[in-house]
Amino acid sequence: MKKFLEMILMDNLRQLEEENLLTYLKVLSSPQGPWVNIGEKRLLNLSSNNYLGFNTHPLMVKSAIEATERWGVGSGAVRTIAGTLQLHMDLENELAHFKQVESTLVFQSGYATNLGVIQAMLSENDVIVSDSLNHASIIDGARLSRAKTLVYQHTDMNSLEEKLTEAQTLKPGKVLLVTDGVFSMDGDIAPLPDIVKLADRFEAILMVDDAHSSGVLGRNGRGSVDHFNLHGSVDIQIGTLSKALGTMGGYVASSSSLVKYLIQRGRPLLFSTSHPPGVVAATLTALEILKSPEGEHLINTLWENTTYYKGKLAKMGFNTGISQTPITPIITGEASVAREFSQNLFQEGVFAQSITFPTVPRGKARVRTIVTATHSREDLDFALTKMEIVGKKLGII
Ligand SMILES: Cc1ncc(COP(=O)(O)O)c(C=O)c1O
Repeated sequence: MKKFLEMILMDNLRQLEEENLLTYLKVLSSPQGPWVNIGEKRLLNLSSNNYLGFNTHPLMVKSAIEATERWGVGSGAVRTIAGTLQLHMDLENELAHFKQVESTLVFQSGYATNLGVIQAMLSENDVIVSDSLNHASIIDGARLSRAKTLVYQHTDMNSLEEKLTEAQTLKPGKVLLVTDGVFSMDGDIAPLPDIVKLADRFEAILMVDDAHSSGVLGRNGRGSVDHFNLHGSVDIQIGTLSKALGTMGGYVASSSSLVKYLIQRGRPLLFSTSHPPGVVAATLTALEILKSPEGEHLINTLWENTTYYKGKLAKMGFNTGISQTPITPIITGEASVAREFSQNLFQEGVFAQSITFPTVPRGKARVRTIVTATHSREDLDFALTKMEIVGKKLGII
């Protein structure tokens, strides 16, 4: 590598290290699960988005193997050239049925979905009104679209109304109001009924990113729109297959005309190869499980575990912010404290990653934890005991 580039990189890395913001990869030497191995160490895992344990569900593994044997390991092309297999269509039809919408379109990831949809729909003549804690993929999609973005204070309906009023004065072609359904770092739920009212009043297109609601909220994990019974009131729902559904990918759930339009203009779909058959088949099985009594049982257990865990943490005096879902941050403020908390937990046998800037704002560092349906009560008690020991040692509680 060129010497000047090497120097610039070293400089940047040194600065990140000084600010305690340098990320190191933790390499799992076991499958994803309630307990994992990192190197030789066995750890209770509170860091995954594997809400329902689907990452290793035997029926999904079996579907992936069978589909791989029948269809091969790759799709061979982008969707719009030769990379649309019947399996891709089956998944989109099942997702449309599940989400109770006209049509869906699957992208390679939730990130790619937000980028593709926002960029395809909006241009410099449009305005995006966006919650201040929306996911990075929404922010990046907004940047790519070149639309003017107005950011309202997190879940604050007065601030949203102000921004929608401001948007009107700009006389845009379109206004897109966009929010996470469940906020990925704080675990709170967007007040969708109020947001729908404002979107209707200001004639804004409403888009909800249900990445952390899919498989978690609503009947059989249908998401936040179903949770609030707002079917038909949200123009565009985004979902991910990569979290509770256990595989990989994202989708947009909306009208047939939007899907048809995105097949023309959704750049990740046009310029990046589609999902391998094994992933698609496993996801189809995930939807089957979600709708079955087993799925219902897993979602109930997820929520029982969440209530138990959150209740105990609150009693111990941890600051878990405004979370209402299995995503439970333990907010420490300083990045160095979050890192120390995470490192100490690691030593004690608990894998709970610290999250710092730029994933959360500076001064809002945290250890972000997620309990899953596959954690037993003993697992949770183990984690809670260790948290209390480390929390007291570091003066967090
Ligand atoms: C709100 C939200 N949207 C989108 C994504 C991206 O999803 P994926 O991991 O499928 O790319 C995430 C994942 O972190 C998320 O939390």
